[in-house]
Amino acid sequence: MRIDIVTIFPDYFGPVGADGRVGDAGPLGVSLIGKAGVRGDIDFRVHDLRAWATDVHHTVDDTPFGGGPGMVMKPDVWGDALDSVLAAAQATAAPAPAAPARLVVPTPSGAPFTQELAASYAAESHLVFACGRYEGIDSRVVAEARTRLPVDEVSIGDYVLAGGEAAVAVIVEAVCRLLPGVLGNEQSHSDDSFGGTGGAMSGLLEGPVYTRPRTWRGLEVPDVLLSGHHKAIARWQRDEALRRTAAARPDLIRRLATRGDGLDKRDR
Ligand code: ADE
Repeated sequence: MRIDIVTIFPDYFGPVGADGRVGDAGPLGVSLIGKAGVRGDIDFRVHDLRAWATDVHHTVDDTPFGGGPGMVMKPDVWGDALDSVLAAAQATAAPAPAAPARLVVPTPSGAPFTQELAASYAAESHLVFACGRYEGIDSRVVAEARTRLPVDEVSIGDYVLAGGEAAVAVIVEAVCRLLPGVLGNEQSHSDDSFGGTGGAMSGLLEGPVYTRPRTWRGLEVPDVLLSGHHKAIARWQRDEALRRTAAARPDLIRRLATRGDGLDKRDR
């Protein structure tokens, strides 16, 4: 999979070489995602938007038409950056990619980024992320891009960040851990909270987990987990997942209750 990120803060993602490749630090360079990059399973490229600015000050923003606070990112700079990033990826792709790139624009005005969307992005061969700053990117950039490639505007939550970079780090991590071989143990996906991949905990938050020692600061590991009774353990884990979900995310329980296979008889 290829992932291009266009930003005015390339350093946010770690040390970036002249070819846009990231070094072994920062959110794309460490841990399992870093290893996937080193193996070549994921080809990360980070680009400085200012490289496509045409004036001496490398200006990327301007005042908004219609007035209002803040600045808006210029369409001409973004248009040239995206053209160039898409063309470069096309030229280096071998063999030619089966599907066009998908452009992902993180914005608080976007559709919610979910585990389901993460799984669909993990099946793409090329993602291009456009990180906005200030009041956002001139709306014609997304409108024009939609005429030639799939485009998603996505939000990682109901709060406003200073820019898209942190959202991209979140999205990339959620997507990359789903790629074959990145996590190692496929089971660790199917039991994820939100269990997009249909495990026993599908649609529920993960319950509590424990490891050695059995007693720590006077707190015991629940007996059932030491019992060796796999059915009893599975039932306990599901009950705990239900309890936690009902407390933290009652909306998820309501959604499961309306799904034919969401809750079983013993859950009620
Ligand atoms: N940019 C600023 N806030 C954001 C959010 N909540 N999600 C995605 N991108 C953003």
